[in-house]
Amino acid sequence: MAGYDEVYQRSIRQPEEFWAQAARAVEWDVPPPRAMSEHGWFAGGRLNTCHNAVDRHVHAGRGDQAALVYDSPVTGTVRTLTYADLLDRVARTAGLLRDLGVGAGDTVVIYMPMVPEAVVAMLACARLGAVHSVVFGGFAAAELAVRIDHARPKVVLSASCGIEPSRLVAYKPLLDEALERASHRPSACVILQRPQRPAELTPGRDLDWDDAVRGAAPAACVSVAATDPLYVLYTSGTTGAPKGVVRDNGGHAVALRWSMENVYGAAPGEVFWAASDVGWVVGHSYIVYGPLLAGCTTVLYEGKPVGTPDPGAFWRVVAQHGVRTLFTAPTAIRAIKKEDPSGSYAKKYDLSGLRYLFLAGERLDPDTYHWASDLLGIPVIDHWWQTETGWPVAANCVGIEPLPVKPGSPTKPVPGYDVRVLDTNGDEVPPGVEGAVTVRLPLPPGTLPTLYRDHDRFVSAYLSRYPGHYLTGDGGYLDADGYLFVMGRTDDVINVAGHRLSTGAVEEVLASHPDVAECAVIGVADELKGQLPMGFVVLKAGCGRDPAEVERELAALVRERIGPVAAFRRSVVVPRLPKTRSGKILRGTMRDIAAGRPYTAPSTIEDPAALAEIAETIRET
Ligand code: COA
Ligand code: AMP
Repeated sequence: MAGYDEVYQRSIRQPEEFWAQAARAVEWDVPPPRAMSEHGWFAGGRLNTCHNAVDRHVHAGRGDQAALVYDSPVTGTVRTLTYADLLDRVARTAGLLRDLGVGAGDTVVIYMPMVPEAVVAMLACARLGAVHSVVFGGFAAAELAVRIDHARPKVVLSASCGIEPSRLVAYKPLLDEALERASHRPSACVILQRPQRPAELTPGRDLDWDDAVRGAAPAACVSVAATDPLYVLYTSGTTGAPKGVVRDNGGHAVALRWSMENVYGAAPGEVFWAASDVGWVVGHSYIVYGPLLAGCTTVLYEGKPVGTPDPGAFWRVVAQHGVRTLFTAPTAIRAIKKEDPSGSYAKKYDLSGLRYLFLAGERLDPDTYHWASDLLGIPVIDHWWQTETGWPVAANCVGIEPLPVKPGSPTKPVPGYDVRVLDTNGDEVPPGVEGAVTVRLPLPPGTLPTLYRDHDRFVSAYLSRYPGHYLTGDGGYLDADGYLFVMGRTDDVINVAGHRLSTGAVEEVLASHPDVAECAVIGVADELKGQLPMGFVVLKAGCGRDPAEVERELAALVRERIGPVAAFRRSVVVPRLPKTRSGKILRGTMRDIAAGRPYTAPSTIEDPAALAEIAETIRET
């Protein structure tokens, strides 16, 4: 069997042949004439992603195998859908969408909790060649509105409520408010009524999900071009306006199918559980598409790592459903460790079937790595990727050749990704020296071909800084053995409990407060969540407000505008912010101070005393 080095080199030297071979694992309506062209990966090929994720497995005799296990401790439900069940539901839901006028190329927004209907909805869109855009349930109405206006969905699919351990989240009023704020009008909303809190439907606009699907005839798969979009997933950029990451059909199916076997070492029929949310890229790739394309059983878990009901929740699910591969974020492991430091809950369950624990979404700190490795006695695999790439950029590819682990490193670049670390001039830095982590073009299949309805921003955000390279936005270094170490974002993006957040978006909200003159938001280290956003706020002269009161108002404002997921609770009123002489706030320097990195004041600084003051405040907080 070829080892990692050989496979990797082949992928970089002969990407055409490499990916053409991988493409054979996908069923095409029209096989692509070649893998790569100026029109994108697999241009000229035609396929349907839903067919590859569902129908083909039924045709191949997997109809009775579990496709999806829904495990919801918050509702006390465990339910299994076989591939045949899934096909039936997806085809009828696609029929409903078709009856509502949704066709290939139309967009559909999905704003749903972690219920099987969310997965069915995504696949139903894929079946029709429609483009889904899933919005995470923890976002507020205003954020949903921004996405609705940008995606311009023909139909919105939602549910009456989501269930958080501490409260019911009524989604329907959030959707109503979002539609009031948005200028775009979908022609219909289909609402899944959950018994925990049914919603009042708006006559003439809303349909009851179950009734509507019951009356719909099944729809067949629509063949689409490999380069047609499968979905748009909005993610945080450096400003308040989210970026619509586009995923194509062909490259995505090929890359995800390949990654399941080669990165994750997963085989058809195995149980694969990504404990994330369908609203994030991890959910798209490894709750929905990856496992289903590979004929695995995926677990859809509506619960938390702790509190539903205890820190043994993950171990219970692993044992009960025979999970072989678990994928989650380090923050989830930290949450378990905090409540059960001795790992006593893990010992109550039979975890002998668990082969790998994969972690991503934020840096895996060595403490968490060692704790999980010691507890489980299986490989714990840090891997690094982003919404934009859709699948791992650096990982220990256990399906090719497990490499020795270096704690703190997601190991080496995954085949397909030519990772280069560059200095500010665009020159490669020597091993061990930190710089901007980039990927030399071409990016492999499955990565973003553009930003939805904003190709200029795609070029300016990712391709302009270092011509010929994709800018990841992360800083880090390669060591002498070629292991990558990712040290954190070099821009205004932070990671809060594995959720990606733009500090620029939080700043826009703070700046809208009538008493705020100016502000800066940075991520500060948090033991549990990795990072938390923290605001530094200068009040308008003479406003006479009590700082503590304004700080409370700001926390409420961010929760209302961005949503609870921002976890924005802390801000401090300061007399001034450090700036350059041209008036630019020294956010980068503030970030360095907060991260405990060495920093130097730029020569263009307006007043060094202001920087010293803020450094003191950051250290105190
Ligand atoms: N719908 C509505 N609200 C949601 C939500 C959803 N789908 N998901 C989270 N929220 C809310 C939470 O209720 C919480 O609200 P609160 O301020 O009223 O308590 C807030 O958003 C923050 O949620 P979360 O980040 O989940 O923090 P938490 O304190 O509830 O739990 C962890 C902390 C570590 C247990 C949790 O973040 C976790 O399980 N993370 C796993 C990471 C993950 O899934 N990452 C995805 C990429 S792999
Ligand atoms: P998202 O697009 O939400 O998946 O967030 C992507 C960002 O999360 C990356 O750019 C990194 O900053 C961070 N990230 C994800 N995985 C890792 C990891 N394994 N190690 C370090 N940072 C990570």
